[in-house]
Formats: sequence, structure tokens, C-alpha cells
Amino acid sequence: MKNFISIADVTDLDKLIGKALYYKANPFSDKTLGENKRIGLLFLNPSLRTRLSTQVAARQLGLEPVVFNVDKEGWALEFEEEAIMSGNTVEHIKDAAPVLGKYFDILCIRTFPSLKNREDDYSELYIRQFVKYSGIPVVSLESATLHPLQSLTDIITITESMQNAPLVKKPKIVLTWAPHVKPLPQCVANSFSQWINAWGKSDFVITHPEDYELDPVFTRGATITHNQNEALKNADFVYVKNWSTYNDYGKIYTNDPEWMLTAGKLKVSHDAKVMHCLPVRRNVELSDEVLDGPNSIVTRQAGNRVWAAQAVLSEILQSPF
Ligand code: CP
Repeated sequence: MKNFISIADVTDLDKLIGKALYYKANPFSDKTLGENKRIGLLFLNPSLRTRLSTQVAARQLGLEPVVFNVDKEGWALEFEEEAIMSGNTVEHIKDAAPVLGKYFDILCIRTFPSLKNREDDYSELYIRQFVKYSGIPVVSLESATLHPLQSLTDIITITESMQNAPLVKKPKIVLTWAPHVKPLPQCVANSFSQWINAWGKSDFVITHPEDYELDPVFTRGATITHNQNEALKNADFVYVKNWSTYNDYGKIYTNDPEWMLTAGKLKVSHDAKVMHCLPVRRNVELSDEVLDGPNSIVTRQAGNRVWAAQAVLSEILQSPF
């Protein structure tokens, strides 16, 4: 693996899941793999889980992590080619990224979308420019449209749950939209859809209010319905996530509290495990009762971020690139 930007960078997903679960059982089995190597973690946006789990994973492989909050401590970066830099941006990515390539062996980047211009966001300019100019492997810590380390974690968590409590049939996995007070990116939902479709081992249903369709590039293959109660019937896993509108880009059309996942709604499920990438708005997206109840696996899911990151960094360190 050279870069880790999307599912397209993974040649054998089952092997990667196996590797992550192996690391969960044997965290220090490759503790010298990254010896004398450094990993740069660049944040253009806030993070709790991604920034900490990736550092823990790096250290368990012997890598030295260096975190840089570009948004607060760095120069304002310009990403557009041939820009006339007479505005607020101070340094071009074409100049900054090769320097970072001299300091680090692997570069990890977190960026968010503007949610103002869909074409710009979906072009993934920021992450593409880091790949183009850094000259070293690049790992996405969430980009404008995708969150691959989260999605790998999610499938690891589903796999682990099914190992602990085997099902007699393919799992029914439901991704349900939930209300939120702010317009949020589509990244987690896009990415989860992309990875679950590529995994191909479930009946995958997406439910959301009208006009909240995601980009079909990611959802193609899933059953899509506006009827949440129908979707939840016999579900084994329910993934709760808000996203803003994709077609009329970055808007909130509804905040109908009826879409919040409650214990009552779960009654029609197959005693479904409930997932969320966190951070979560309690009693807006998900009720306390569900989050604090026996069906919630959100803390285990967040804990598994370490093993997803460790498996990916290990693949990169072991690759010939
Ligand atoms: N799920 C997730 O990416 O969490 P953070 O934003 O805290 O990193």
C-alpha cells in the first residue's frame, strides 16, 4: 500500500481486517517495524479519536509521531495551481509539501469540506495536492468526502461482533440519517457506504429523509428508503450518522426529531448493535437510553480506531514504495 485515501488503496480487505484484529490481540508484535522513522500528523481541523488513536498506533509500531495543527500554528496554505497569492494564503502546497516530505516518512492529513462548493469539495484538491507534492506515502485522517480509517474501523468492529456472536445469515446493516444542529459533511456516510459495498458481505440498507440522497458513486448497491422504521426491521447493525444535503449542497432541510434513534425504534430490529463514529450529539442524534444501553458498541468502535490505524501504517511500512 502506497497511500491510504479510500477503499481503492486496499488490495485485500479481509487480510487488512485480519491484521487489525491480530494487532488488537498482539499490540507490540511489530514494535520495531517503524524504528528510526517519523510520521507527521497534520490537522487542518479538530479531532479527538483520529489524532490520538493514530499516535498510539504509530508508537506501537516504533514510529515517532509529530502532530502539527496547521489551522492554528502553520502558515495559511494555498492549494490552487497557478494561484496569484495576493490574498490571505502565505505558502503554496507546492513549496510546503516537499519540505514535509524531507522531515517525515509518512504524512497524515485531516481536512474537512467547505460545504459551500460541491465541485471543489468533491475534487479532493487538498489531499490530492499533498499526494502530488510530498513525495512520501499519504494517509487520509478524513478528507472532504471520505473517512477511510473510520470505515475500516467500522468493518473491523462489525467483524469482531460477528466473531463474538455468530449470525446464521448475512448481517443486515442499516445506515440511518439522524438530526443535527449544524450542517455536517457527507464523508462518514459516503465512506461507510463505499466500504460496506466493497466488503459485500451484508444486506446494506440506507435510510434518510427525502432530499438527503448521497452521491450514488458511493451508495450504488445499497437499498435506499425514506422509511426508517421499515429499514430497521431485522437489522443486526444500525449505524447512526447525520449528513447535510448533497444535491442542494451543504444544507439542513429538516431536523425532525422523529429521526433520532431511540430504544423504542430498535424493538423491530434483530437486537441490533448500534454504532456511531463520535462525536455524537446526545438526545439529538441518539438517545441517552441507546448510547448508555447494552446495544451500543460505540466505545468499542472508537477503541478499534487504534487497530485500523496500526494495520494501515504497518501495510505502508512493509510496502516497497
Ligand atoms: N470519528 C472521528 O473521526 O473522531 P474525531 O473527529 O474526534 O477524530
